[in-house]
Amino acid sequence: MEQSEEKVPENQERGILLMDNWPGYDLDLFTYPQHYYGDLECVLIPHGIIVDRIERLAKDIMKDIGYHDILVLCVLKGGYKFCADLVEHLKNISRNSDRFVSMKVDFIRLKSYKNDQSMGEMQIIGGEDLSTLAGKDVVGTGRTMRALLSSIEKYKPNMVKVASLLVKRTARSDSFRPDYAGFEIPDVFVVGYALDYNEYFRDLNHICVINEHGKEKYRI
Ligand code: IMP
Ligand code: MG
Repeated sequence: MEQSEEKVPENQERGILLMDNWPGYDLDLFTYPQHYYGDLECVLIPHGIIVDRIERLAKDIMKDIGYHDILVLCVLKGGYKFCADLVEHLKNISRNSDRFVSMKVDFIRLKSYKNDQSMGEMQIIGGEDLSTLAGKDVVGTGRTMRALLSSIEKYKPNMVKVASLLVKRTARSDSFRPDYAGFEIPDVFVVGYALDYNEYFRDLNHICVINEHGKEKYRI
């Protein structure tokens, strides 16, 4: 076996692994908005599992943070559900322990995707007091996260940790790895749980795979 530096168990680093042959769940076994009937391939991750996994991420984060105060920086718009659920779990853990962690929340907005493609330029809007923890929806190519981190550096934070709900296994990836990952997923375009395709599907609870019909219907 190869020698390695500090070893973090692989499943902790990558989160729950959804393999390329993972077929997802049949949509007809769940409820979802009627206006999206015919636009989706499958349920990749049901809402309940998303929330359960985030509960564990919150526990891992609290364990690492110790007694430091934290600023949760939510990356809008796609990260708002993840951030809200993460903050809820962090609050619960803090409330039910004798550790007092003071928590602030700020929001930043990044935009780089048109249809299902990552666009060249990155816009960063908002966020004034940037110091500790960043919460993010998907790491696709990793470009967005690198751009954000270099702009956070300017504020000389004590510590920056990145939590991402999803990490895609993509050939275009620049191998950015968040400190906390919810799920590692195949290179498919997913929607729901605040993730959008041209602003649609944010109002879907589960993380689903969009189909060709859906892409065509909402293409710009
Ligand atoms: P990256 O710069 O390629 O890592 O892309 C990250 C950003 O692109 C995320 O914050 C999302 O907003 C968006 N994104 C990437 N993949 C998906 C996806 O499958 N569904 C919805 N949005 C995505
Ligand atoms: Mg988007």
